[in-house]
Amino acid sequence: MTQSASFQMVAVAGDEDTRQMLAAVARQVGLPGAQISEGGASAALSLVRSGQPPELLVVDLADSPDPILDIRALLSATSGATAVIALGVINDVRLYRALIDAGARDYLVKPVTAEGILSALASVLESRNASASATPVSATAVSRSSRTVALIGARGGVGVTSLALSVGWDVAGQGRKTVVLDLDLHFGSAALSLDLEPGRGLKEILTNPDRVDGLLIDAAAGRAGEHLRILSAEEPLEDALELQPAGLAALLDALRPSAELVVIDVPRTLGPMSRQVLQTADLLAIVTDLSLPAMRDSQRLISLVRSLRGEAPLLLIANRVGGVGGEVSQADFERAVGAKINQVVRFDRAAAIAAAESAKPLIAAAKTPATVAALKAVSKSLSGEVAAPAGKAEATSWLRRLLTS
Ligand SMILES: Nc1ncnc2c1ncn2[C@@H]1O[C@H](COP(=O)(O)OP(=O)(O)OP(=O)(O)O)[C@@H](O)[C@H]1O
Ligand SMILES: [Mg+2]
Repeated sequence: MTQSASFQMVAVAGDEDTRQMLAAVARQVGLPGAQISEGGASAALSLVRSGQPPELLVVDLADSPDPILDIRALLSATSGATAVIALGVINDVRLYRALIDAGARDYLVKPVTAEGILSALASVLESRNASASATPVSATAVSRSSRTVALIGARGGVGVTSLALSVGWDVAGQGRKTVVLDLDLHFGSAALSLDLEPGRGLKEILTNPDRVDGLLIDAAAGRAGEHLRILSAEEPLEDALELQPAGLAALLDALRPSAELVVIDVPRTLGPMSRQVLQTADLLAIVTDLSLPAMRDSQRLISLVRSLRGEAPLLLIANRVGGVGGEVSQADFERAVGAKINQVVRFDRAAAIAAAESAKPLIAAAKTPATVAALKAVSKSLSGEVAAPAGKAEATSWLRRLLTS
């Protein structure tokens, strides 16, 4: 059963901005089959009359002469099987109450925000879960067949890209379809490190969420073996990039069917997209060396991540250990940042040189068993098992994470 078949969302809105926003949110919560069209109450009425009533209807009542009457007509046409979220332009609590009394689940005043829609959607999904345990709507609606892991560096040059590529290489080597996504579109080096042409489509994808599809992704990605694709870019530094979380949500959504694991190399610029990743990745790792500046920034990143994701699992990986001037001891580092280091990869100069010369990931180029073993351990701790379809609790918390953005 497809996600759209398991939770059907229909939305009708009069203006393009609202439609785009609805489409982006639908993708973000894993409802790629959402049907979004132009119009108002009468278009919505013909849609619900023409087929099986959807489970969720978002209807724009901005042009409706009598919104209450329209809500009643819609609810009666769907025999109460549909949760209706109304949109409008009148910011009046009396109208809000009258719409709720008439049976609308929520009323949002335009221009609607992603947070507003997500919040309304979450409440519909949660009440469905509570009332219909035989049909776990939200569990199927937001289930994901692929796992997203993200790595961010406490400082520049600590080895995020090396580790992301090593994880991608190792997992792909086990026959699992893997994508390494380098979100630093100006300076990212994932493609360069493997001597691949930087793709041309990543910026397009991230700036045009509505146009994302498998073909565009294939054109943008470089191949590093049968199961490993690299999405990376080399955008001119002259270009200021305005990358929005909706683009990333659309990309991850489109990757789901064809990637068991997506490894994200997250830039430390901490724009909206990086923050989105920090919030929503299934697993997050902070990569650091043992220098004093990296210790300070690991501590700051940990506290940022805790504020964004609560106690969700977080890995701390120390890389280049033994190779950086002015290192503090591991014990002092852990005490200062208030967290244990989960994985240690020692500095291996020969491996780094071999990786650069052969244009291979560190894990493929390293000759020292200890380095290979440490990188394998990093890969294992990050990739884990491929996530089973999300259960109810996980689905809800994932949605909650989106809602706290
Ligand atoms: N364990 C290691 N031992 C020796 N050298 C390493 C190790 N890990 C990474 N390196 C080297 O450190 C350098 C920086 O690595 P990398 O580009 O992966 O870091 P980064 O955190 O992605 O940097 P940036 O902040 O520029 O994105 C590279 O030359 C890489 O080969
Ligand atoms: Mg990098």
